[in-house]
Amino acid sequence: MKKVKTAIFPVAGLGTRFLPATKASPKEMLIVGDMPLIQHAVLEAVEAGIERFIFITSQGKTAIEDHFDRNKLLETFLEQRHKIADLEKIRRSQLQPGQAIFIRQQDPLGLGHAVWCARHLIQDEPFALLLADDLIISKTPCTKQLVDAYEANGSGNYAAVMEVAMADVSKYGILDIQQQTNNVMTANSVIEKPDPTTTPSRTAIVGRYILDPRVFNYIDTQKLGVGEEVQLTDAFNPMISQNIPFLGMLFEGERFDCGTKEGWLDANIAYAYKDPELKPRLLETLNKYTISN
Ligand code: UTP
Repeated sequence: MKKVKTAIFPVAGLGTRFLPATKASPKEMLIVGDMPLIQHAVLEAVEAGIERFIFITSQGKTAIEDHFDRNKLLETFLEQRHKIADLEKIRRSQLQPGQAIFIRQQDPLGLGHAVWCARHLIQDEPFALLLADDLIISKTPCTKQLVDAYEANGSGNYAAVMEVAMADVSKYGILDIQQQTNNVMTANSVIEKPDPTTTPSRTAIVGRYILDPRVFNYIDTQKLGVGEEVQLTDAFNPMISQNIPFLGMLFEGERFDCGTKEGWLDANIAYAYKDPELKPRLLETLNKYTISN
């Protein structure tokens, strides 16, 4: 069985749900805790054994490239002042020469199209796909959980899934479940943003996948799906009918939709709560505002 060594990070979206913050700076550079969302996702991938990082970017996203590059000026400054802890922090966000590839999606035609832009960079091996605006806090990194599920169950397309409220099914790709063993289920089909009255379940895909490389043959860039975008989900059903299964894995952990103000706020609070240094400050501040209400 081929190992998952490559990850794609689509970061070319317009981030309209978080305007004006995302007008001139990428959504993926929003900070949760002490680092940008995209670094959380890259570190999660590293912990899952990923060695090659492909970023699908667009105009105005160069801050992401700079973030993973070396910053010699800053390094020299910190070295001269013996600020070893700070040096360590910036080195953690550096990828090794040749490990990262940045390519551009020229038009924001949707997630399916963004992934398709990497078609010449992936050979005949499965790859991880991480949407950095979905932040997942868990004991075992979510991508590692998916890699383990893939290694235990064999080839196919995999996505991390969770149960959502009925009112929210129309925001997600939803699974029509065939059968489930423990936390892994196979799907009869996947439906993008169904109506609550017709949805086959409340089991929703979140932004973590392991994909079969044959997916590139099934992404139809001529066909616009829901929201007039090339939907990644639309590639999965034809693959299921060609006996390439789609598996959902209920992940352990908590997911925050940091593409919205509310989700981003929740994520920062959750981070501060789990950080022994920040927790007292968080409680003090919450207390202050609760009392003054
Ligand atoms: P979203 O659905 O969150 O879209 O994309 P968006 O454009 O970033 O944000 P909103 O909905 O306007 O607020 C999910 C992920 O797919 C990437 C985004 O960067 C994000 O990581 N994406 C989306 C692309 O790379 N290209 C696209 O054309 C669309």
